[in-house]
Amino acid sequence: MIRVLSLASEAVPLVKTGGLADVVGALPHAIAAHGVQMSVMIPGYPQVLTRLGPPAVKGKGKARKAAAPPVVHEWKDLFGGPARLVSGQLDGDHAGDLLVLDAPHLFNRDGSPYADGSGRDWIDNWRRFAALSRAGADVAGGVVEGLTFDLLHAHDWQAGLAPAYLKFAPPAGGRSVPSIMTIHNMAFQGYYPADIFPRLGLPPEAWAVNGVEYHGGVGFLKAGLESAYGITTVSPTYALEIRSPQFGMGLEGLIQSRGDNVRGIVNGIDAKEWDPSKDPAIAAHFSARALAKRVANKRALEKEFGLDRDDGPLFIVVSRLTWQKGMDVLCEVLDHLVGLGGRLALLGTGDAALVSELHRGAARHAGRVSLRIGYDEALAHRMQAGGDAILVPSRFEPCGLTQLYGLAYGCVPVVARTGGLADTVVDANLAAIKAGAATGIQFAGVDYQNFALGITRAVDLYHQQDAWTEVRRAGMRMDFSWNQSAAAYAALYRNYVDQPSVEGAVNLPGDQ
Ligand code: ADP
Ligand code: GLC
Repeated sequence: MIRVLSLASEAVPLVKTGGLADVVGALPHAIAAHGVQMSVMIPGYPQVLTRLGPPAVKGKGKARKAAAPPVVHEWKDLFGGPARLVSGQLDGDHAGDLLVLDAPHLFNRDGSPYADGSGRDWIDNWRRFAALSRAGADVAGGVVEGLTFDLLHAHDWQAGLAPAYLKFAPPAGGRSVPSIMTIHNMAFQGYYPADIFPRLGLPPEAWAVNGVEYHGGVGFLKAGLESAYGITTVSPTYALEIRSPQFGMGLEGLIQSRGDNVRGIVNGIDAKEWDPSKDPAIAAHFSARALAKRVANKRALEKEFGLDRDDGPLFIVVSRLTWQKGMDVLCEVLDHLVGLGGRLALLGTGDAALVSELHRGAARHAGRVSLRIGYDEALAHRMQAGGDAILVPSRFEPCGLTQLYGLAYGCVPVVARTGGLADTVVDANLAAIKAGAATGIQFAGVDYQNFALGITRAVDLYHQQDAWTEVRRAGMRMDFSWNQSAAAYAALYRNYVDQPSVEGAVNLPGDQ
């Protein structure tokens, strides 16, 4: 059994703004079967601490209430204030050890994990996530009595400095364990001006090309990619794409230099959360064999969105409303989609300009296009269960989860051929249909022509009822459970844990 500390800024079921939380929350349970005991460490945002309950006071063991989560470590001054580490459990089906960094001066704020109520990034995000990284490196290095780890797994830029702390400033008296850095999205790199460097608590030698320095500033993700033993991203195609300037977004040279230490492991989905035969959020349960029952969900969805009731295709979108997700091109194709007899139900939050444009489209097509602007987990389930096809026109998509939920729910994905979308959806070309392998529709290039053609193909296929049913069934039969991917992560961890020391590692971080 090896012990891994998974360090991230969000995890279901406690706090989620996107797919990162799904992945971090699901992995501990899935990987336990592969000989890895994983603890998840996240910041103590108000919603996390509320779920955990009031912590007990450290050292007052007997006096504390039986249910109070224990404080297992304290920092007198962590980047400007006291902090403590509270131990708990990821709830329910996400069974796994949880460590929460309760640092009120950094995390006790209303708003999202990254921004204030008006959507502006917290001005001290560098400090908040440097603190998370420093504390994570301390914990992985054995600062908590009785809690040892063999490896640290850092997710995204918010945890990016942790591998650098382990490399350049390991915890006093602790061990410098190996680390893995996972890129969930290259578009978010955590880049800050040079003047924060002296406040990070890193030695001068960390200000270097093989350290945290990046174009004259501090790059959090860059630091992690340079310092970690191994790098992963969330699909094999994205692992290739980020070697190019278009997708590498400035870090392509570094990715190329890390050679074989960059792997793509596709995300799984949590089959307990996303199972149409048991999902408590949906009106009628169904399965690949009992697909006819699904229509009750379509009718319920039409009603919920105030859409015309008819037998034409009902498209859905569940997405952040951003340029990455191609939502501007979605606005452009609305007339085409409606012209083909389609309807659209959309759930999302994001850019104000896109929201306004979408509202204009919905107003043009009353009864055919309807929106819910907001974040609603249960509604996302009802949409996957009731929609005929889910549109995912992303310009880049490291993995993407909504197309996987679509596959599991018989909601045929219509996707841009990029990243994890290319890896998980089999295009319904003639050969694939004939072989019973097709699970959705891919289109190349996110622009009006290509996306419109993808929608046309989906509508044509929808009207060939037998083929459509076959495509749906093939998708539902796919295994996107975590099992295979968890096995891949476990093998990777072992590979790096088995290196006797940093010096003995086959590929030294940053030495290529
Ligand atoms: P990303 O993390 O880039 O946003 P993913 O497809 O990996 O993209 O993950 C998005 C996750 O967030 C999915 O679980 C999806 O169902 C969920 N999601 C996105 N927008 C909403 C929303 N408005 N309401 C509910 N769930 C949403
Ligand atoms: C990021 C990516 C998305 C991926 C998710 C989880 O948010 O944009 O493609 O599925 O992380 O890895």
